[in-house]
Amino acid sequence: MTSTIQNTTPTTPDDADLVAGFPFPFLEDRYRYSTNVEPAEQPVTTPAGQWGTAIVDIDSEYRAEIDQRAAILAADPTRHAVLPHMVPATWDAMFTLMRELDAAYPEQMQLRSTGPDEWLWRNDILGIEQHFRYGDATTLPDEPLRYITSQVQEDIALLDQRNGQLFVDAGVVTFAADWSFGFDVGMSFLEIHGPVPRVRREGVITRAHEFLKRLQPHQPYRRSNWTLTIDRRLDVSTEIYPEWGPDREAILLVDDAEFGRRVHLRVEVQHLIRLPDSGAVMFLIRTYLLPLELLATVDPWRRRAAEVLAELPEDMADYKGIIKYRDRAARWLRNAARQSAPTGPGMPVWPTTPPDVDTTGAAFLVVAVGDDAETAHVSRNWVATAEAVGATRLLVLDTLTDEQDRRSLNAALDAALTGTRILVTGGQYDVMAALAMAREAGAIPAELSSYVVHTRDLPLYCAHCRTTFRVEGCAGGVVSCPGCARDLEVHEHHSPTMGSFLASAAGGDT
Ligand code: HEM
Repeated sequence: MTSTIQNTTPTTPDDADLVAGFPFPFLEDRYRYSTNVEPAEQPVTTPAGQWGTAIVDIDSEYRAEIDQRAAILAADPTRHAVLPHMVPATWDAMFTLMRELDAAYPEQMQLRSTGPDEWLWRNDILGIEQHFRYGDATTLPDEPLRYITSQVQEDIALLDQRNGQLFVDAGVVTFAADWSFGFDVGMSFLEIHGPVPRVRREGVITRAHEFLKRLQPHQPYRRSNWTLTIDRRLDVSTEIYPEWGPDREAILLVDDAEFGRRVHLRVEVQHLIRLPDSGAVMFLIRTYLLPLELLATVDPWRRRAAEVLAELPEDMADYKGIIKYRDRAARWLRNAARQSAPTGPGMPVWPTTPPDVDTTGAAFLVVAVGDDAETAHVSRNWVATAEAVGATRLLVLDTLTDEQDRRSLNAALDAALTGTRILVTGGQYDVMAALAMAREAGAIPAELSSYVVHTRDLPLYCAHCRTTFRVEGCAGGVVSCPGCARDLEVHEHHSPTMGSFLASAAGGDT
């Protein structure tokens, strides 16, 4: 992945960015512990976007989270520990992460060799330029692990392998979800997982332990874990329990709007990497927080999270610290269906006549997709009205399955100023795809209007190959998935954010 990060400090989270990159963790309507490891660096397409291309992930919260980490470390030094034998592993970890950052964000992060063991590190987002000699602590402003965790959003633990066991002997962990890194340092992998219910009995942790001991360099793996957290609070560590613990009870007293704003699905994407020089295992924990009110904008996520929360066994809910409010969270998500579906219970309801141009707009972008005569007619009328009141651009495209056409639309959307009214007409697939792209580009519902000239086709999100396709068919019908060739039932659920209908294996197909 090559990405460009804005060199700015956002004051409020960028909702579109948080939704698009959110690693929604539930693969089915029921959640149980498992040794859920998979190879890293495999992109996962979700109904809202994508995640997982790179090992390190930088998003719009980068600076805010880096600043929080610095403040936590300054207030509580026990969040950072390096046992003496782990010094080589800290250099290995720092260097590995610099390479990963350089590979994922080459425009802002660069690691360059300047001589034998001599390196130049640049982080243009933070304005850092550092020459260092690998292994020479006098050439860095900080201990290597602390130095690199001040430039990534991930928490890091380093595990030493000796006598057939793994021990958490170093780390910088400022965003622990209800555990204490300072307490756990020096403990074995098996001891650390002592408090987790079920996992001993079910062998999850012993299997994970055996797996980790066999982990090879250059074959990174990942897994995810989740819980709920009240407010956008990354640091819910045992050390500061009095600051956040009481919220678990108090949240029951707030109204529904506040509940949806404050309760967050918290997902950790955890990477497991055998470091090549020291042989230590690096454990990266990247924490994502999405408030229920944003989660509910993606209908398949809303439905599934509601089912998982309602079904989760008591002991697991208790251990996760969500037992008091998970039922309300499940209810909130179920009820959000009616509010979040602006166009009816699961199905888009298209206007039967072309909507009028909103002449309060500052400028107009008319998008006509496909060669249907009605599309041409509707777009011409819109252009005539719009031109009389403001700057108007007409974009005529063949289909949004075409990469070139998608690029043209994205460029037009990027060029559109705030306040531009965007009017889209074409077949159902193209209109839904265009509206989703406009939303992704930052357009709000009030800026969008559309007119669908036929509903012969639709955008279909296959829950199995996790990709959206254009198919001929209708909700309630069965179509063959162009990706995985399964027979799919098209559900009467569509996501405006993603611009597609959910589909899953029809009875009998697996
Ligand atoms: C394949 C590897 C791993 C698996 C399958 C695994 C599994 C789990 C599970 C199922 C939980 C309970 C989570 C919950 O209900 O919210 C947990 C908690 C935890 N895991 Fe892991 N884990 C793995 C690797 C690691 C590693 C490498 C560390 C090193 C620091 C670690 C540290 C922890 C800690 C500190 C907790 C919280 C324990 C507490 O309540 O005190 N895990 N893990």
